Amino acid sequence: MLNIALPKGRLGDKVYRLFKDIGYDCSAMESDDRRLVLCDPGGEVSYLLVKPSDVAIYVEHGAADIGVVGKDVLLEGGNDVYELLDLNLGKCRMAEAAPVGFREDAQRPLRVATKYPNIAKRFYGELSREIEIIKLNGSIELAPLLKLSDVIVDIVETGTTLKQNHLEVTREILPISARLIANKAAMKFKDAQIRDIVEKLKSKVEG
Ligand code: PRP
Repeated sequence: MLNIALPKGRLGDKVYRLFKDIGYDCSAMESDDRRLVLCDPGGEVSYLLVKPSDVAIYVEHGAADIGVVGKDVLLEGGNDVYELLDLNLGKCRMAEAAPVGFREDAQRPLRVATKYPNIAKRFYGELSREIEIIKLNGSIELAPLLKLSDVIVDIVETGTTLKQNHLEVTREILPISARLIANKAAMKFKDAQIRDIVEKLKSKVEG
């Protein structure tokens, strides 16, 4: 049995459909089931439904053998896992954004609100730009509107949230998409099963 950690929510639904397409169907995934562990009828895999930001933690510690996680979470967490495949799903970008017309004062540290302090520190470090991080857990766009920060570093998907809050992208940071990751020990002990899944997913993703 292979344990697969899937992120609950929008991305998880897309990823589940991909696994279903390669033969790992699990009807309970499509109902309003509240269970967090769901097995396919063939007993080959079990799906663990976890918060997106926790997927890499389950995989790193071996509670799940493989998992699917956004590149943003992976870079932020720096978890010790293997990254096996870009699933080309959940595509978006990490960017810096500021109120429309914002003028940066290079003489003082830039106040950056974000859920991603490690990514932000690395990005501004490479620019040798002094910053002050304001770590938030959501609704990041509110911070510059209330002058809690100068800018934000966050995910931009459609751009709607920025637009509706009168913010605009000021610096591009990185492209993001969902990645298949694996526990390091599982890659030794469940090698054949994991490789089989990777090959099947690859043919779907790369078409
Ligand atoms: C994410 C992100 C942005 C928004 C971007 O927030 O933090 O706020 O989506 O999407 P858009 O460009 O399509 O508008 P999420 O919905 O995860 O909620 P959060 O504010 O709680 O982080």
